[in-house]
Amino acid sequence: MSTAANLKNVPPPTDPSRIIALSTAYWGSQVLLTANRLRVFDALANGPQSATALAEQLGLDGRMTALFMNACVGLGLCEKVDGRYLNARVSDVFLRAGSPASMQNSMSFMDDLYATWGDLEHALRSGQPAKAAVTYLGNDEEQTRHFVYSMHDRAMAIGQALPQVVDLTGRQRMLDVGGGPGTFSALLTRRYEGLRSDVLELDGVASVAEEILDDLGVGDRVAMIRGDYHTSDFGSGYDVVLMSGMFHRETAEACKRLIDQARDCLEPGGMLIVNDVFTDEGGTTPEFSALFGITMMLTAADGCVHADANVDAWMNAAGFVDTLRRPFPPPMPHRVVTGIRS
Ligand SMILES: C[S@@+](CC[C@H](N)C(=O)[O-])C[C@H]1O[C@@H](n2cnc3c(N)ncnc32)[C@H](O)[C@@H]1O
Repeated sequence: MSTAANLKNVPPPTDPSRIIALSTAYWGSQVLLTANRLRVFDALANGPQSATALAEQLGLDGRMTALFMNACVGLGLCEKVDGRYLNARVSDVFLRAGSPASMQNSMSFMDDLYATWGDLEHALRSGQPAKAAVTYLGNDEEQTRHFVYSMHDRAMAIGQALPQVVDLTGRQRMLDVGGGPGTFSALLTRRYEGLRSDVLELDGVASVAEEILDDLGVGDRVAMIRGDYHTSDFGSGYDVVLMSGMFHRETAEACKRLIDQARDCLEPGGMLIVNDVFTDEGGTTPEFSALFGITMMLTAADGCVHADANVDAWMNAAGFVDTLRRPFPPPMPHRVVTGIRS
């Protein structure tokens, strides 16, 4: 057969753009995380600067800083006017210290995980997380602070939106299991007059959380209980249990046990709220959720991502009624599953 005839049978090449973009995606991540670490967006907060002036202020090499800042502009993080650099609006709002919507702490925790992602192959071969959870849940003070403040940044955004998907009007006693910084408890007890919350947390995280709760001035509404949710007695008499962002650290069996514990500490009519990043059935979509499962697999012994449909089924099996699944408004990737103790 002639070459021309052979070519006729070759399927047309598909567009490799997606592969090229994925193979270089870490370039952009590293520019963002390094700029955050160097506090570039704070340095530009008071007005535009040349690369030379910025390099001098931050103790960097001038030639490289110019290339770096051009890349920040290319990524939409900064703008360049008359040869000087300034924060793009999005960086001024989300990446500058002191901005109410600042995600600086969250970026620092993502930065801590950059090297961890580099160990993906090793984790897949060994079956062990690349980073032991104890590192950022108490053992390493700096990483624990990055983690807890990162949870706080995230919860400040998601917590404000929670009342759009769950109504707690009239509820009085909440148990916030694995409550991290306690931010959800702080926001919800402020929003719902009469609601008080107990935050059950590990010792190392609770110490940082107390500092955050003090800053938020909610000491009279939110109490910390130091303990392990696998072994602690949940008590009784609650009319809300919040389990936010903790199912992704646990196996299906452990989640079912936690749902049972929640049921047993709730009064009849009490509400269980499970908030997390979830996948659709099958585990492959949305893309963010499937990748989030990898982050959790790399950072917690039983780290994973669950499907919200499974959580719904586990709640029904535990005797909860009127279960509902709702997404948070975009761009938040979270979904919430609620049920009522019959
Ligand atoms: C992703 S954070 C979520 C924090 C908070 N609920 C939120 O949504 O902002 C998960 C939390 O579970 C806590 N945690 C993990 N294992 C725990 C355990 N065995 N007992 C108590 N808390 C635990 C961690 O310390 C961490 O603060």
